[in-house]
Amino acid sequence: MNKEQASKKIESLIELLNQYGYEYYVLDNPTVPDSEYDQKLRELQQLEQDFPDLVMENSPTQRIGGAPLASFQKVTHNIPMLSLGNAFNEQDLRDFARRASNGTDQPISFVCELKIDGLAISLTYENGKFVRGATRGDGTIGEDITSNLKTIRSIPLSIKEEGTLEVRGEAYMPHKSFLALNEQREKNEEEPFANPRNAAAGSLRQLDPKIAAKRNLDIFLYGVGEWENSDLTSHSEHLARLKELGFKTNKEWKKCNTIEEVIDYVNYWTEHRNDLSYEIDGIVIKVDSLDQQDELGFTAKSPRWAIAYKFPAEEAMTTLRDIELSIGRTGVVTPTAILDPVRVAGTTVQRASLHNEDLIREQDIRIGDKVVIKKAGDIIPKVVRSVVEQRNGDEEGFHMPEECPACGNELVRLEEEVALRCINPNCPAQLMEGLIHFVSRNAMNIDGLGEKVIIQLFQENLVQTMADLYRLDKEELLQLERMAEKSVTNLLEAIEKSKENSLERLLFGLGIRFIGAKAAKTLAMEFETIENLQKATYEDILAIDEIGDKMADSIVQYFAEEKVTELLNSLRELGVQMEYKGPRKSEQATDSVFSGKTVVLTGKMEKFSRKEAKEIIESLGGTVTGSVSKKTDIVIAGEDAGSKLDKAEKLGIDVWSEQQLEDVVGK
Ligand code: IVH
Repeated sequence: MNKEQASKKIESLIELLNQYGYEYYVLDNPTVPDSEYDQKLRELQQLEQDFPDLVMENSPTQRIGGAPLASFQKVTHNIPMLSLGNAFNEQDLRDFARRASNGTDQPISFVCELKIDGLAISLTYENGKFVRGATRGDGTIGEDITSNLKTIRSIPLSIKEEGTLEVRGEAYMPHKSFLALNEQREKNEEEPFANPRNAAAGSLRQLDPKIAAKRNLDIFLYGVGEWENSDLTSHSEHLARLKELGFKTNKEWKKCNTIEEVIDYVNYWTEHRNDLSYEIDGIVIKVDSLDQQDELGFTAKSPRWAIAYKFPAEEAMTTLRDIELSIGRTGVVTPTAILDPVRVAGTTVQRASLHNEDLIREQDIRIGDKVVIKKAGDIIPKVVRSVVEQRNGDEEGFHMPEECPACGNELVRLEEEVALRCINPNCPAQLMEGLIHFVSRNAMNIDGLGEKVIIQLFQENLVQTMADLYRLDKEELLQLERMAEKSVTNLLEAIEKSKENSLERLLFGLGIRFIGAKAAKTLAMEFETIENLQKATYEDILAIDEIGDKMADSIVQYFAEEKVTELLNSLRELGVQMEYKGPRKSEQATDSVFSGKTVVLTGKMEKFSRKEAKEIIESLGGTVTGSVSKKTDIVIAGEDAGSKLDKAEKLGIDVWSEQQLEDVVGK
């Protein structure tokens, strides 16, 4: 085949394969068996290999290209990507319709759409070519994630449209992909994602497009940013035209001529949201006419021509089978509800923290009770109340034991704390939790040493202290259940590699009270070696900007322990290096997600103390304030977040979970 013939053949194969892909991924209606697609794809790959300069950008082989990126480039949105104001009930919807009517002379038609729970994305096409895909970011500046978006098969790499077209939509992870991903992660002993939204966001934030490619993400396009050559006059025409151009739009949208019809639509989907194969968190209502949209305009944050109705948090009823106690790294004993599995807001819940005995007593929660479960912020499962009316008399009250269930030591209640604690430093449960923390992702990051393996090692008496991990040998490991030659080799390699970690990982991993990942980094950067930190006085440590008195006190106390000196000596002898290897303080990057942002913390945090979270955000250039207002950029909501969260939602402010904060800090 000569070059000219190859070029023609390549062009026709691309057209054919893109048509097949469109039918499969966009229309969900394949017209050929997979084997035929694969055969044509192989033919194309062979030709591209033989004629490398004929590789076209819209070839399906170009979806998973590119080497991993070092970081994402920033993208400025020519037209800002605003968010929407919220409605929580019928009255809010009627108020919205009235405000809209008052702002325009002609009668209004609305378009109702499902509010897909993913993340907002912008796709830019120049003369028919997909040139850039970006996240919403803060609405003005997002990140260029083109390579990751190209892996979403329903996004066309080319369309038949001249000029510039910037389309907007929601990237999301369908339930099926989400369940498969979490199953896989649990097998690999990786933390599962809390919900499909986090999983989609986490996948698109990966610098290596190969990871996003494996996550089976999808997208619905629901709007237009810039459209150079369009003379369309309504949003419904936009949706229809986007569909014609080959974009995946959501088919459930409906044009409604009255607010009553809108309310019917909202009620219908409140009932049927769980029938969908993807997660929705509400309904978006938009004024259809583009002229009327212009007339109504925008407030500071959001358009007056659209609103997002948010579904109420879902509740479900199940049986409380038992209350288990878990002992944390710092000895806190936490009661956990063991539940009959029940689906709430898209995931199956089997456990929920009951926090402490006081709470169980106040709410009179008994083993055997029917209980109502809700997801706080739709993420963390929570027992809301017992259904007292359904008791049959067999339910049992719960009392915290007086002794630690792991070591038998007396439990104590420290001053000003609700929690009971085991203060035995040799308590096996605490030692084990300490080891789990030591090897975890943000600490020493030892791959292959998940919770289950640590428990095994501990129970087999192979590992008692952190230093013992570096004494493990092949023979010992091979004796463990489910440990084959290959996994043992990989594990030993990972342990060996961790010896070269920069100091902050070790400092965080040691589990010094009040020293989170961020404080560990600050300390490592400041003192550079562990010896310097060991020698430092309380005053030296307190003099550091981001370190408070509790932290300083805790560090001094920690290093004064003889056992700690012994542990560090052993680690050093075993080859664990203890120096800071990151950028010097003066080279620290100034730009971060928090720089220049005003952040409000609300609700109970589990992983960070309030102070710690504040310190982290401030060290990343943010300002933490106490109350939510229009000036607030981000609200980070822990458990039981109350009126501040409501207000943030009303104002359409970005709300983060504690996990999101951890993800960013970990990053
Ligand atoms: S329209 C001017 N339509 O909900 C804002 N948004 O705050 C135009 N979303 O950030 C947004 N499904 O990420 C629109 N059918 C839909 C949507 C939708 C999900 C998200 C989007 C936006 C947020 C609204």
